[in-house]
Amino acid sequence: MKGSHALTALIIAWFAVLGCTHAVTLEVREGNSTCIKAEFSASFSITYNTSTSVETVQVPLPDSAEVDAGSSSCGDGGGGLLWLVAVFGPGHTLGMSFSTNGSLYSVANLTLQYNLSDASVFPGANSSGVVSVVSISVGISAKVNTTYRCLSVATFDVGGATVTFSDMRMEAYMPGDDLSSTESVCMADQASTTAPPSTTTAAPPPPPPVPTAAVQPNQGWYSVNNTNGTNCLLAQMGLQFNISVFSVSQNKTVREIVNLDPGLTNTSGTCTDSRATLVLMQERNTVLNFTFTLNSTKYHLSGISLTANWPGMTDPFSVTNNNLDFLRSSLGRSYMCNAEQMLVVSPDFSLNTFKLQVQPFGVTTSQFATAEECQMDQDQMLIPIIVGAALAGLVLIVLIAYLIGRKRSHAGYQTI
Ligand SMILES: *[C@@H]1O[C@H](CO)[C@@H](O)[C@H](O)[C@H]1NC(C)=O
Ligand SMILES: *[C@@H]1O[C@H](CO)[C@@H](O)[C@H](O)[C@H]1NC(C)=O
Ligand SMILES: *[C@@H]1O[C@H](CO)[C@@H](O)[C@H](O)[C@H]1NC(C)=O
Ligand SMILES: *[C@@H]1O[C@H](CO)[C@@H](O)[C@H](O)[C@H]1NC(C)=O
Ligand SMILES: *[C@@H]1O[C@H](CO)[C@@H](O)[C@H](O)[C@H]1NC(C)=O
Ligand SMILES: *[C@@H]1O[C@H](CO)[C@@H](O)[C@H](O)[C@H]1NC(C)=O
Ligand SMILES: *[C@@H]1O[C@H](CO)[C@@H](O)[C@H](O)[C@H]1NC(C)=O
Ligand SMILES: *[C@@H]1O[C@H](CO)[C@@H](O)[C@H](O)[C@H]1NC(C)=O
Ligand SMILES: *[C@@H]1O[C@H](CO)[C@@H](O)[C@H](O)[C@H]1NC(C)=O
Ligand SMILES: *[C@@H]1O[C@H](CO)[C@@H](O)[C@H](O)[C@H]1NC(C)=O
Ligand SMILES: *[C@@H]1O[C@H](CO)[C@@H](O)[C@H](O)[C@H]1NC(C)=O
Ligand SMILES: *[C@@H]1O[C@H](CO)[C@@H](O)[C@H](O)[C@H]1NC(C)=O
Repeated sequence: MKGSHALTALIIAWFAVLGCTHAVTLEVREGNSTCIKAEFSASFSITYNTSTSVETVQVPLPDSAEVDAGSSSCGDGGGGLLWLVAVFGPGHTLGMSFSTNGSLYSVANLTLQYNLSDASVFPGANSSGVVSVVSISVGISAKVNTTYRCLSVATFDVGGATVTFSDMRMEAYMPGDDLSSTESVCMADQASTTAPPSTTTAAPPPPPPVPTAAVQPNQGWYSVNNTNGTNCLLAQMGLQFNISVFSVSQNKTVREIVNLDPGLTNTSGTCTDSRATLVLMQERNTVLNFTFTLNSTKYHLSGISLTANWPGMTDPFSVTNNNLDFLRSSLGRSYMCNAEQMLVVSPDFSLNTFKLQVQPFGVTTSQFATAEECQMDQDQMLIPIIVGAALAGLVLIVLIAYLIGRKRSHAGYQTI
């Protein structure tokens, strides 16, 4: 018995070390009873203004997050509203309120408060103080006396910020002190054909990315929808990361070339009149964020951020650059580049694109509008034109030579 406990502890410790996501456990108690227990990983994508630009930061919910006993509440112990409020850092909070109708419980509001005065998270912010954003009816609900389980990535738009959850298990209006053993499994977990990766079963960790000359990545098809369900951003592309990381096993900094696998990628994003974002998340350890900006009639890719926490990394890799100028095209057109393009984001990170076509604005159907092609494609198209023109020239020369030859031989006959 002791042995098996020790083994369990060892396996848990092993996963704690190797696991790529950091799940936090939060519990709201009143007296001796627990009314909410939640385990999940969360990260936030927040946009803020500096005096010269608009920046987007990725903020993970740190392990140090804890329940704010003052604002959390178990209600009246009946069927009233419950609050789970987690605080982290100087005045940042994530809040969830729960309501129930007796047979189902659901997350009524999701709130996020962030403190722009925290210069370590929001460098150069041109305003200070705490910003509160709220999202109502996020669609998380489960039967009473069951645990809500959603290991898949779920992204919510919260007043312009994005909250991303994964590895979630939680219960409100709990009958006991532990999560109920019966689970209400979210749609995304039910849909995944392969068994969803779980932190409690001993699934082998994914193999470390192999830093060899990678093959060309598969082309993925991604779209972002308006709240009314119509497409507002379309993209198809193959993506390859080229990052510089410290390898523990080799005790040196190495370049890793890793392809994004569209089959393992979750898509989310937001669209406004002048900004559109596309967020691609692969296997809960890679988050790639594109920001497109529209300036009157021209748009471009203005920002890329990557957060990666791959096996073998000592620290998560995180790079953001919001002063980019790639994929420039016109409103009402799509941008297309079949040739490989290298988008340099930082000295440590560039993104290679293959067979790319995007349209972040002016999407009216689920089809791309007429494409503006990149210079490289136009140059490549010139080659067959030049070859064709050369061939046509050759044919013409042969024809002229033949005609001249014929005329000469005619003249020859006449003299006889
Ligand atoms: C909590 O439990 C302790 C011992 O288990 C008991 O003495 C105490 O009265 C309980 N408090 C409440 C509010 O139920
Ligand atoms: C940034 O500034 C613009 C223009 O002043 C304003 O419309 C926008 O709401 C600001 N964004 C944030 C996140 O504060
Ligand atoms: C902050 O910056 C935005 C643009 O980046 C600007 O429109 C806004 O007026 C600035 N606000 C303050 C308080 O300086
Ligand atoms: C916001 O952050 C600043 C700087 O870290 C801190 O002085 C201030 O107390 C924080 N505000 C709140 C409401 O916690
Ligand atoms: C609770 O809400 C669900 C979904 O809205 C509904 O199917 C169910 O009948 C409701 N239960 C009660 C007791 O009102
Ligand atoms: C939930 O469990 C509690 C205690 O076990 C029980 O009193 C209650 O009727 C259950 N509710 C539902 C909707 O099953
Ligand atoms: C949810 O947020 C909305 C908008 O801020 C607010 O009016 C409403 O009272 C909140 N609902 C709950 C259940 O907290
Ligand atoms: C967007 O809508 C299309 C159908 O128009 C659907 O297939 C797709 O899954 C939706 N995408 C997202 C991210 O919800
Ligand atoms: C959906 O919403 C977008 C903007 O949010 C609007 O332009 C479009 O016309 C709407 N489509 C339908 C079918 O309502
Ligand atoms: C990766 O980036 C480095 C540094 O910019 C560059 O030298 C190398 O050619 C790149 N490799 C690939 C496959 O893109
Ligand atoms: C790693 O390399 C540095 C210098 O390159 C060396 O000082 C250090 O001892 C090495 N560490 C290990 C664990 O090999
Ligand atoms: C937007 O367009 C105007 C006029 O073409 C130009 O002056 C301005 O610099 C552009 N802004 C950005 C951010 O590209």
